[in-house]
Amino acid sequence: MEYSDLLIEQHGKVVVIRLNRPKAMNALNDNMMNELGDALYKFDADPAVNVIVLTGSEKVFAAGADIAAMANYTYADTYPGNYIGRNWEHILNVRKPVVGVVSGYALGGGCELAMMCDFLIAADSAKFGQPEIKVGVTPGAGGTQRLPRTIGKSKAMDMLLTCRMIDAGEAERTGLVSRVFPAEKVMEEALAVANTIAAMPVSVAMQIKDSVNRAFETTLTEGVRYERRYFHAGFGTPAQKEGMNAFLEKRKPDFDGL
Ligand code: CAA
Repeated sequence: MEYSDLLIEQHGKVVVIRLNRPKAMNALNDNMMNELGDALYKFDADPAVNVIVLTGSEKVFAAGADIAAMANYTYADTYPGNYIGRNWEHILNVRKPVVGVVSGYALGGGCELAMMCDFLIAADSAKFGQPEIKVGVTPGAGGTQRLPRTIGKSKAMDMLLTCRMIDAGEAERTGLVSRVFPAEKVMEEALAVANTIAAMPVSVAMQIKDSVNRAFETTLTEGVRYERRYFHAGFGTPAQKEGMNAFLEKRKPDFDGL
């Protein structure tokens, strides 16, 4: 598939998917979300890729769902047509790590898409917001669910009801993002983070991702049991042999292909 709304770059075992509709502030329309789903599934299945980085431009990650495209939607376009559900959530099925990198605005569906990444790195220019109420709708891609689970109810309610944007510093303090870098350095730093992950055994990274996501869907006891199955199973894998032998032999592990 040729992409018109995405740019793709590969850096070793890290692939960067860049949202690219500069004239519309990277507003997320059907075409872009179809392309994003296609790219995510393609790279998830590609043995040459260990980590996917999802980002936008320097100015904007994404300013939300495309208001021009949806302004005249009817109920039939949305509920029976499964708007959002039909193509926004493929990212949740990706098994390899997905690191989101946000510079500039991540608003509405842009903030929601960012929150579907495994973790977020932000430029100091980043601004996060859920301004859907201002265009007369509730969030539709998890804003009322993932935001309070991530930053707490009070901050989330404040953002959702007043449309207040939070900057990178507040996003880091509240746990929405894991690290903040100066805007001019953020991609370089994010690639270094992604390459660190890419050097780990991808199979174990996938299991950790699966276990962490399980923590949000189950009880603590069941979650720990789930994790322990992976831990025990790890003793049947080459990654465990290589990792532990390399430690004992005082050498760097080689997890390539593991
Ligand atoms: N949809 C469609 N077009 C958008 C857009 C969006 N979400 N956001 C920006 N654009 C377009 C503008 O219409 C404008 O197009 P024209 O040049 O053709 O007029 C262009 O991008 C540049 O935008 P601005 O002139 O507004 O740029 P700015 O720098 O003054 O402001 C902004 C930037 C603060 C991001 C502002 O554009 C903005 O507030 N955008 C809308 C944000 C929003 O409400 N997002 C929520 C959408 S609803 C949603 O996402 C539902 C959901 O939960 C899934």
